[in-house]
Amino acid sequence: MRVLSGIQPSGRLHIGNFFGAMRQHLQLQAEHDCFYFIADYHALTSNPAPAEVAGYALDVTLDYLALGLDTEKTVFWRQSDVPEVTELTWLLSCVTPMGLLQRCTSYKEKIAQGISANHGLFAYPVLQAADILIYDSDLVPVGADQKQHIEIARDIAIRFNNNYGETFIVPKAYIIESVAVVLGIDGQKMSKSYGNTIEIFEPEKSVRKKIMRIVTDSTPVEEPKEPENCNVFALLKLVASEEELAEWENRYRSGGLGYGQVKERLAELMVDYFRPFQDKRAELEKNPDYARRVLADGAKRAKAVASKTLIRARKAVGLGA
Ligand code: ADP
Ligand code: TRP
Repeated sequence: MRVLSGIQPSGRLHIGNFFGAMRQHLQLQAEHDCFYFIADYHALTSNPAPAEVAGYALDVTLDYLALGLDTEKTVFWRQSDVPEVTELTWLLSCVTPMGLLQRCTSYKEKIAQGISANHGLFAYPVLQAADILIYDSDLVPVGADQKQHIEIARDIAIRFNNNYGETFIVPKAYIIESVAVVLGIDGQKMSKSYGNTIEIFEPEKSVRKKIMRIVTDSTPVEEPKEPENCNVFALLKLVASEEELAEWENRYRSGGLGYGQVKERLAELMVDYFRPFQDKRAELEKNPDYARRVLADGAKRAKAVASKTLIRARKAVGLGA
């Protein structure tokens, strides 16, 4: 089964990205033919500073390598190194109804936030459909927020196949639901855009500091507390063993527990969880050429698949005959 997913290089990756997407991407490598890429064309929709574009892409590569990317099996590349995908985007655009894009909730939310939209942001799901279809993907593992984009990709594939004959595999979404949304230190969804993240590769000291700052309610120490309403407990669930979690749950409910104690333990467990990966990343950083070689090799392997699909699609619509 061909599994494909993309991740935007729009900032340092955080533990929400890890528990909500990357961990599952890495686990899927054991059983599937995985294609993962850095969606730098998509990142351009928010007009990042040019000096940051390549830097973040390299950062994401180092992150994936440190977390266990299997470079022999998995194809890992930078989206813009295979520009064939932009030509396919055009062919797909011509079978994509405006209404399909106008109904897109992530687009509507951005507009509601007052972001002034460019055409790239509007057409973003068509590029995403091209990403998926050009690599003959069967399964696309993404967070629930991306579900609609995968449905659009399916819809576009079906329309194209109906108009021009069987050309694309119709992909399926694999919604990663094993963890709930990871909360940030302010209790909202953890997100780069809210400035409430704990980065995967943040220095230990800073992780501890941020965890001590997590927002909690003002229930006095002696009173019982509801763990399920607590932001600290929500993060503890990600890194504590079942037994330890049950113990803390008990202590919350019996009263006499200060949030400071739980935060201390959470910081310890969080730092321990990521320490081996931190060490690996520090090694990889010493030789960024290795990461660049991984990207170059990935681009070559990705291009081999993409160029074949593009020829098929061009022929189907009557180009290049
Ligand atoms: P951000 O909101 O920080 O910009 P992205 O939208 O780039 O993050 O998300 C990249 C991937 O990480 C997506 O698959 C998304 O579902 C997942 N993800 C992001 N934030 C969280 C979170 N707080 N909890 C769980 N998964 C998340
Ligand atoms: N839009 C996705 C996100 O923001 C990233 C992405 C781009 C993607 N192309 C993709 C994900 C293709 C899955 C498949 O998270």
